[in-house]
Amino acid sequence: MTESGDTVARVDPKALETEAQSAIAAAQSPDELEQARVRYLGRKSELKQALREVRDRESGMTLNALRQSLETAFDEREEALRTAALERLLGEESFDVTLPGDAPPRGHYHLLTQVRREVEDIFIGLGFGVVDGDEVEDTYHLFDALNMPPGHVTRSPLHTLFLNGDTVLRTETSASQIRVMETREPPVYMVSLGRVYRRDTIEPKNYPIFHQCEGLAVDEGITVADLKGTLLHLCRALFGEDRQVRFVTDFFPFTEPSLGLAVSCFLCDGAGCRTCKFTGWIELAGSGLVDPNVLRNVGYDPEKVSGFAFGIGLERIAMLRHGIPDIRLFWENDLRFLSQF
Ligand code: DAH
Repeated sequence: MTESGDTVARVDPKALETEAQSAIAAAQSPDELEQARVRYLGRKSELKQALREVRDRESGMTLNALRQSLETAFDEREEALRTAALERLLGEESFDVTLPGDAPPRGHYHLLTQVRREVEDIFIGLGFGVVDGDEVEDTYHLFDALNMPPGHVTRSPLHTLFLNGDTVLRTETSASQIRVMETREPPVYMVSLGRVYRRDTIEPKNYPIFHQCEGLAVDEGITVADLKGTLLHLCRALFGEDRQVRFVTDFFPFTEPSLGLAVSCFLCDGAGCRTCKFTGWIELAGSGLVDPNVLRNVGYDPEKVSGFAFGIGLERIAMLRHGIPDIRLFWENDLRFLSQF
């Protein structure tokens, strides 16, 4: 017996091939296939050992041909398993592109923005212009020009947020009245809406940031009747056509006389309820006829023109209309609250 005969005799290439091929075909996963590869082509496999011991050309060729055909079979099976796995995955995750997609949730304006726009529309309808003021103001436009002398209580750092010496976060939007009058001759019909800042403690009815709408009309012959008619229109547009308004005396440095505006209660129609504190009236706004000093400060002649002004809180309007008990809700960004409006 030759050596070569020995080598080939120790492995029966035909039997080994049949056995290996059926193991390859039986492998159902990359793991199983790898096990078969180690078994039939690994360093310690029968075939590799036989190849190491080969001494003659003929059995070398036979065994090498076997190795090659097994390697090809392994590669093909590996590819087939990968394709099958991919197809299974695609089958499982298949989706119907013709089905309607998920509608993205639609947002809407914050309640305060809605109220702000509504109030703007009401005044645009009356012929007023809408003016944007700056939230950072100087003390001249916010205080001095509005007839608040240096000792006025609002100018204390306990009330107002100072950024530095004479630069503050505005405590009211009235400074834009001054800025408009400084640049324009009468007549002036304007409203200014926006954020204001006060050094208030956070509590159910107070927040250091809130929103105001302030209005100003300056023309020849403006009287309290114009003020009352304008605010009556506003109240009816906001709270219903049956509303009545009345004035109570008040004081603001920039108006003389100063008048507090109350609107008849839209919940109880005057009968008395908790919202109107059983008076039938809800206090809503500060107002008055523009103080002659303010007109003089911007170079207007109080002998020729007169004006009315008013200020109203936007949070207050929203809270009254929707029965919102706590101003902090506007700032908490809780969608359970915000999405109701
Ligand atoms: N600025 C006042 C406040 O914040 C409201 C106000 C009252 C504004 C009278 C005015 C006005 O323009 O004339 O309480």
